[in-house]
Amino acid sequence: MNGLYKAVIRGVGSYLPETRLTNVEIEQMVETSDDWIQTRTGIVERRIARPEEATSDFAYLAARAALDDAQLEPADIDLLIVATETPDYILPPVACQVQARLGCRNIGAFDLHATCAGFLSALQVAEQYVKAGVHRHVLVVGADTLSRFTDYTDRATCILFADGAGAFVVSRSDDPAARGIVASALHSDGTYFHNLYIPGGGSRTPYGEGVKAKIVMDGRKIFKLAVNVMATTVQELLNQTGCHLDEIDWLIPHQANQRIIDAIAESLNFPAEKVISTIQNIGNNSSATIPIAVDTAIRDGRIQRGDLLMLVAFGGGLVWGGAMVEY
Ligand code: ACO
Repeated sequence: MNGLYKAVIRGVGSYLPETRLTNVEIEQMVETSDDWIQTRTGIVERRIARPEEATSDFAYLAARAALDDAQLEPADIDLLIVATETPDYILPPVACQVQARLGCRNIGAFDLHATCAGFLSALQVAEQYVKAGVHRHVLVVGADTLSRFTDYTDRATCILFADGAGAFVVSRSDDPAARGIVASALHSDGTYFHNLYIPGGGSRTPYGEGVKAKIVMDGRKIFKLAVNVMATTVQELLNQTGCHLDEIDWLIPHQANQRIIDAIAESLNFPAEKVISTIQNIGNNSSATIPIAVDTAIRDGRIQRGDLLMLVAFGGGLVWGGAMVEY
């Protein structure tokens, strides 16, 4: 995926809602236990929106943080992409609300819907625009409010889902030593759509017509598929670049379940201490998990400039993909 220019990660930011939903609180809602949830998912608590908060609020705050980190102004941004499956409204795009709240120019701004692989899909779009020389600075946000589409009477799903946002500023670099986004890959298989979907609220069965607008999932099936395709994607990116697994400083998988994260590392024989996990106190907030995990590990000093990151994600669709990035 070579272009005229290098595409580097110039800034990273994230935002988590303040409200915490603990396992002990979930014990009051459904037949489950703190011990079961921790053992089967690694999650202790998740962050969820207050009633008045929605996806664009989180997206805006994460975007603001990434801009500050990049030392850029809203006017510097040439394109804004928000990856989300839970927009404030079906119409308009969240990206336009973020564009207005930031005070960007009248740049292109659109939402990209690829469930939990949305952020990496948007990152690949940004990579291509920057490498081709079309844009200098692209703001990529992953933001979701899954709590609004979670059935809190379904113990198999309500234990997992959460809300939040993360963002990268992807910029052109003229530095010959910079590598930035080295490689990326995206895949899909729509034949599994019914294993993870929201039956109501779309054009097939509009909201209010008796079909629930809440996530329905076959967890066991999704679990196996997730481990398999994310491990395969890591291998694909290594083959594409000629890199060896030893060269990867940090593996940052989509934060769906700690057991999925552990199983990917194990199947690759990748050291557990080089895997970034934030799921314990955040939960699974879909498009937001990867930029939040990257931001967390930058802020706590684990990820350093120059480190080679392997980002890999998977979600309903099915969709999956990855990116190898020098930070
Ligand atoms: N508490 C207690 N028991 C439970 C709970 C719960 N919260 N949930 C399920 N169980 C029960 C089941 O009913 C089942 O009981 P049975 O054996 O009597 O039938 C038993 O526990 C085992 O169920 P499994 O589904 O096999 O449990 P598993 O270990 O697979 O864990 C889980 C379930 C956590 C959902 C897991 O399958 C998972 O994480 N799957 C992947 C989820 C995922 O990655 N989703 C992607 C989301 S990304 C996106 O696009 C939003």
